[in-house]
Amino acid sequence: MKIFNIVQDKQKSLRMKSSSIAKEDIETYKSLGLEMLDYLKMSQDDELAEKYHIQPGIGLAAPQINKNIRLIAIYIKEENKEISYVLANPIIVSKSIKESYLINGEGCLSVPKKHEGYVYRSYKITIEAYSYLDDKMITFKAKDLLAIALQHEIDHLDGILYYDHIDKLEPFKIKDSAIAL
Ligand code: NI
Repeated sequence: MKIFNIVQDKQKSLRMKSSSIAKEDIETYKSLGLEMLDYLKMSQDDELAEKYHIQPGIGLAAPQINKNIRLIAIYIKEENKEISYVLANPIIVSKSIKESYLINGEGCLSVPKKHEGYVYRSYKITIEAYSYLDDKMITFKAKDLLAIALQHEIDHLDGILYYDHIDKLEPFKIKDSAIAL
């Protein structure tokens, strides 16, 4: 199991646009992607998280481990299902006009200080990416928390952090049409 050193938001790598992974390099990054997924799983295991002093997270992007490549991992554990993704070069090919936000705000393993306020994102999205769990290109739809997590991680690949989206003047401004999660 790999304990990553997660870089924090002062680090330049978090503000850079990351490079796409070339077709011929896809295999090269498979093990790293799978280690990122394992790290997320471990971070949600109370015992291991405490033992290794790691914060729980549902998503991780390569720039957070100081690698500016377009690689992300997601791990969401719900009552009766686990959602895992390890994706290279994810692209949002379509998104709903309808928005959603987390009522408790977003968090990020790279942002030690909590920034209060709502982050509005598309409620539903369609993603195209190379999936390391399927070893092929996939297209899939996501909504709710998964859609938010994917948008948060893809933002990292473009040097964007969640608090960039919070309205500076009215951080808790309610958009009536948006779905609160
Ligand atoms: Ni983050």
